[in-house]
Amino acid sequence: MLIDTYGRVATDLRVSLTDRCNLRCTYCMPEEGLQWLAKPDLLTDDEIVRLIRIAVTELGIDEVRFTGGEPLLRPGLTGIVERVAALTPRPQMSLTTNGIGLERTAAALREAGLDRVNVSLDTLRPDVFQTMTRRKRHGDVLRGLAAAHAAGLTPVKVNTVLMRGLNDDEAPDLLAWAVENSYELRFIEQMPLDAQHGWKRDGMITAGDILASLRTRFTLTPEGEEKRGAAPAERWIVDGGPHRVGVIASVTRPFCRACDRTRLTADGQVRTCLFATEETDLRSALRSDAPDAEIARIWKLAMWGKKAGSGLDDPSFLQPERPMSAIGG
Ligand code: 5AD
Ligand code: SF4
Repeated sequence: MLIDTYGRVATDLRVSLTDRCNLRCTYCMPEEGLQWLAKPDLLTDDEIVRLIRIAVTELGIDEVRFTGGEPLLRPGLTGIVERVAALTPRPQMSLTTNGIGLERTAAALREAGLDRVNVSLDTLRPDVFQTMTRRKRHGDVLRGLAAAHAAGLTPVKVNTVLMRGLNDDEAPDLLAWAVENSYELRFIEQMPLDAQHGWKRDGMITAGDILASLRTRFTLTPEGEEKRGAAPAERWIVDGGPHRVGVIASVTRPFCRACDRTRLTADGQVRTCLFATEETDLRSALRSDAPDAEIARIWKLAMWGKKAGSGLDDPSFLQPERPMSAIGG
């Protein structure tokens, strides 16, 4: 098992397949993009499948989420999904994507064994989308969402980050739209993980702000802690149900005590937390022909060193060197 000194057990593995992206969300990347990882530094498809196999068969991982950057940019994605689906025990598999290209790939991914998708969408207004992502791709995302739903990658979850003065007036409209389309909407508080280091606590829209805004149009009833488990989202029942809305309040209501996650970067580093400042190298072990047991041992040791929390509230908090796009969500 991947256990840490606080007694938490990681069962959810998030694998970043690439640090590249075809959007430039302002809370994530600068306009000009970033210095991407070089091809030889990236894990190969075989290396990724091997690490997931070790995680599933030897380390108790039962859920795998593929992230990026934008994971649909990884050419081998469908093949990786197919090979992971063939593992015993077969883990649950999901994908966090910006939705561009999903229209084309949703059915094949479902066929390969993918269970669910989370699609990032911050606004219903094409002009605001362009301001926030610096790309004119709003229609692609909407079509990607519809294709995911049609392909049975359900429940389709939508991740939304609200930014002051840009889309912070859209929460009720987004929820009405999500209910109408049977998407499960989740708002994520903006975190200090942007490459530009521009995050400011007093600039962010908090869970409190989001709930107040939603309550101007909807009746929200808390779903209750017992249903939450290790899920980062707190959920509310919308207007008596059956629809739900989630809020991931990483900053104002952190959920580190229940964290069940471990992360793997596209270049083969274990990260125990989004905010970790240290990483553990698995790629070197992979490339020096270490046996499975040795890789499992290094991974377990990394998890043993997992910190209690994100440290966001510490005066000495330092943003990790890797931005969100190179860690995955
Ligand atoms: N704060 C909060 N959420 C972010 N995301 C990307 N960067 C940030 C940030 N700084 C979101 C994306 C996507 C998910 C992976 O994380 O919008 O939905
Ligand atoms: Fe790309 Fe996601 Fe970053 Fe936006 S938030 S630039 S979609 S990686």
